[in-house]
Amino acid sequence: MNLLTETTIRLVTAIPGPLSTELGKRREASVPRGVGSVLPVFVRRASGATVEDADGNQLLDFTGGIGCQNAGHVPPEALEAIHQQAADFIHTCFMVTPYEGYVRLAEELNERAPGAFPKKTFFVSTGAEAVENAIKLARHYTRRQAVIAFEDGFHGRTQLALSLTGKSKPYKAGFGPFAPEVYRMPFGYCYRCPHNLTYPDCDIECARRLESTFARHIEAEAVAAVIFEPILGEGGFVAPPREWFQVITEICSRHGILIIADEIQTGFWRTGPMLACEHFGIEPDIVVTAKSIAAGLPLAAVTGRAEIMDSPGPGGLGGTFGGNPVACAAALEILRAADTLQLADRARHIGELFERGTRDWLERFPLIGEIRGVGAMRAIELVKDRDTREPAAEETKAVLAACHRRGLIIISAGTFGNVIRMLVPLIAADAQIAEGLTVLEEALAEVEAERLSPAQRA
Ligand SMILES: Cc1ncc(COP(=O)(O)O)c(C=O)c1O
Repeated sequence: MNLLTETTIRLVTAIPGPLSTELGKRREASVPRGVGSVLPVFVRRASGATVEDADGNQLLDFTGGIGCQNAGHVPPEALEAIHQQAADFIHTCFMVTPYEGYVRLAEELNERAPGAFPKKTFFVSTGAEAVENAIKLARHYTRRQAVIAFEDGFHGRTQLALSLTGKSKPYKAGFGPFAPEVYRMPFGYCYRCPHNLTYPDCDIECARRLESTFARHIEAEAVAAVIFEPILGEGGFVAPPREWFQVITEICSRHGILIIADEIQTGFWRTGPMLACEHFGIEPDIVVTAKSIAAGLPLAAVTGRAEIMDSPGPGGLGGTFGGNPVACAAALEILRAADTLQLADRARHIGELFERGTRDWLERFPLIGEIRGVGAMRAIELVKDRDTREPAAEETKAVLAACHRRGLIIISAGTFGNVIRMLVPLIAADAQIAEGLTVLEEALAEVEAERLSPAQRA
């Protein structure tokens, strides 16, 4: 692991340096504290998996703008198209005078989303907006109002998306009342099984409870849709067993309930295939995507069965900036480049590097409760005690702070703030993955050493 000849991280000041510190003061005075930032550094430029801050420090990015840079920062493949489109026209509003890029991108996503049935796609600007629109469509099509979402799920910060989100602090606390007709059940989070059972003997009790939700909370005939992330993002990179999806989809199809997959964080080859649903063999009725769709430009898509998507009449869907031409141009280039950049293979390979690099960590670091993930969507859950599985939130913060001091951009996840997640750009070189893991390993060792009593340390 330490055989690196050339490293990405090059620090010329402590983190943060003087210029970032100065900018931080201006930020504090001018931007509300509710808009948090994980690192105290301000960015000057970024490329691939590298970020340079205002003081000239070069940092290694294991976060990619929270999963928006699967193709790397400023991908050359998209840059020319972005320039060209910006020179041609930047905005006319598709709802006034449409343009081909929007239609071509819709065609591409219809073709690539799982399911051999006819599909349609429309675009909005953010993930939360896409989620809201998926619910609108499900309600309009089924003429039912209720939606079932999951504990530990994250769907965004607008009112309905927040109502679907299953984490109180900091997202929901104080922001009520929430949208009505949202019902919730536990997710298939095996490490923290809501029923204290063990897979596979559990017979996927968590998914089967959907039937009892119909008995206890809301009758099935009133439920428009079930919405889930195939793998929890903000909730801690939790992938339920494959059978979880089979049970949920079987129950839903028996009751005429639509399946909405929120692939905003899992999408665009993060886990290997373009969408994580492909891992689990599911074909959602509606799928929402955003984040890595357009090289970091604000774009989100709602793709679904044509008859559902065509349910509302003209004017029922849309938004002034939805499907911005520059963002569509970037997205088309990312789709085209995915093959040449071999993003699917890279995701699998990065997953293997992560597995190899962390193989003995469970033995070496008692803080680690579980190491998990699919493809390049990888995480480590930290616990104070392996028997009680008490979440180690302070220790997670300490590990992240130690990484940041060393120049690695990495963030947490999890309802209890005790999961370290990796969303490294898929184009990162093997040496960069190794470098980031080395930093993380050092940070874990540092925090483990601090946890020991002086006698144990001696
Ligand atoms: C799974 C998931 N859904 C929805 C959202 C909301 O997306 P946005 O922040 O673009 O509104 C996010 C953002 O992190 C997400 O990870």
